[in-house]
Amino acid sequence: MADTTTARFPSGVDRAVVVVAAGSGTRLGIGTAKAFVPVAGSLMLARALEPLFTLPAPTLVVVVAPASLVDECRALVASVAGAAVAYTAVVPGGADRHGSVEAGLAVLPDSVTAVLVHDAARCLTPAAQFSRVFDAVADGDGAGFVPALPVTDTIKRVEGDVVVETVDRAALVGVQTPQGFPLAALRRAYEVSEQAETDDAGVFQAAGGTVRSVPGDADAFKITTPWDLGRAESIVRSRGGTDGGVPAPGADGGVPAPGADGGLRFGLGVDVHAFDVASPCRVGLLDFPGEPGLSGHSDGDAVAHAVCDALLSAGALGDIGGRFGTSDPAYAGATGDVFLRGAVALLAEAGLAPSSVTVQVIGNRPRIGARRTEMQDALAAVVGAPVAVSGTTTDGLGFTGRGDGLAAIATAVVRPV
Ligand code: CTP
Ligand code: MG
Repeated sequence: MADTTTARFPSGVDRAVVVVAAGSGTRLGIGTAKAFVPVAGSLMLARALEPLFTLPAPTLVVVVAPASLVDECRALVASVAGAAVAYTAVVPGGADRHGSVEAGLAVLPDSVTAVLVHDAARCLTPAAQFSRVFDAVADGDGAGFVPALPVTDTIKRVEGDVVVETVDRAALVGVQTPQGFPLAALRRAYEVSEQAETDDAGVFQAAGGTVRSVPGDADAFKITTPWDLGRAESIVRSRGGTDGGVPAPGADGGVPAPGADGGLRFGLGVDVHAFDVASPCRVGLLDFPGEPGLSGHSDGDAVAHAVCDALLSAGALGDIGGRFGTSDPAYAGATGDVFLRGAVALLAEAGLAPSSVTVQVIGNRPRIGARRTEMQDALAAVVGAPVAVSGTTTDGLGFTGRGDGLAAIATAVVRPV
């Protein structure tokens, strides 16, 4: 991730979001930088970032952090982004929001055509709002776009405490973020901007740009005061979402308190082994005499290994290679049940237990159908929860279709105990 020069992003990505999170949160009055304040158990910045990694098109994410918290911010961004971390960068912010936006824009590569600028303080903004603004910019003939909501209160103009007049609210909207623009035009607007406009659309318009509105979302409100924080927390709780995401400091080692979903966690695992006619065939903890075996440092049981990885992933406990060592002599020839028992034990140490597992065997041989129940029972006995086994071929396509090897994909649900 970059500091102040163009970050090393994957090439050719044409959309980006700059998330400004460098403010101090004076009006919130907690004494911690606002983006690092917990909102119902998960840091505000983590909540703000989560929807960005669900967007359908590849999107760069630049987070502008308080200068004193850049390292903490990098760790947080990496944890929320997961495999998409290469699409992210963290840069230190400026003295005001204006400076922070400029710092974020500065590291974007020129492949980016559409940029959204977003306040971390609007941490419950749904992914659909980002998509709406991106779509508008793509079709917008160079205009900028702001999400807007109608004003519902009657608005008065006052002088001191004297009400001068009622303002026609039909012509007024409240605007939110993300606000979206063609990147080159927004950069030019910031270069010539002298005023401390309170939003990016103001900067863009002051430089002669046209700004239009798209529908906003009530959940995209900005957390400014303690009352706003309470509102955000009650919205999250009403959705049963007090858990998940990056735990707040001091939260118990990553295992969430049971929410409305009982704290269930979901995991995924995939494994592939090549056939090796010289090895005995063990798949899903069963022996298949007369069938070609699978090569591997252990017994090559792709089904057991995929289930093991799904269990570990559900507990955020890493993977089979990292936990048990793919070349550790202790596991030479180890049967699949050894890894499964190890995964269940690691889950137990983390206060978790398997609830259910599914695994699909992908390949031509061995045929699973006749031994499905037996395989389910053998796996369930070790996992300690129901296991559903299914099988498929790939219609003659790919390595499984050619009969080069066997693949398996598994899911696991685990629960707090
Ligand atoms: N922001 C920023 N850099 C600054 C100031 C603000 O990145 N120097 C960001 C904030 O982190 C926030 C957004 O701009 O996500 C909107 O600002 P605001 O709600 O005013 O947040 P704070 O400045 O943190 O709060 P306060 O004004 O109460 O100190
Ligand atoms: Mg501020």
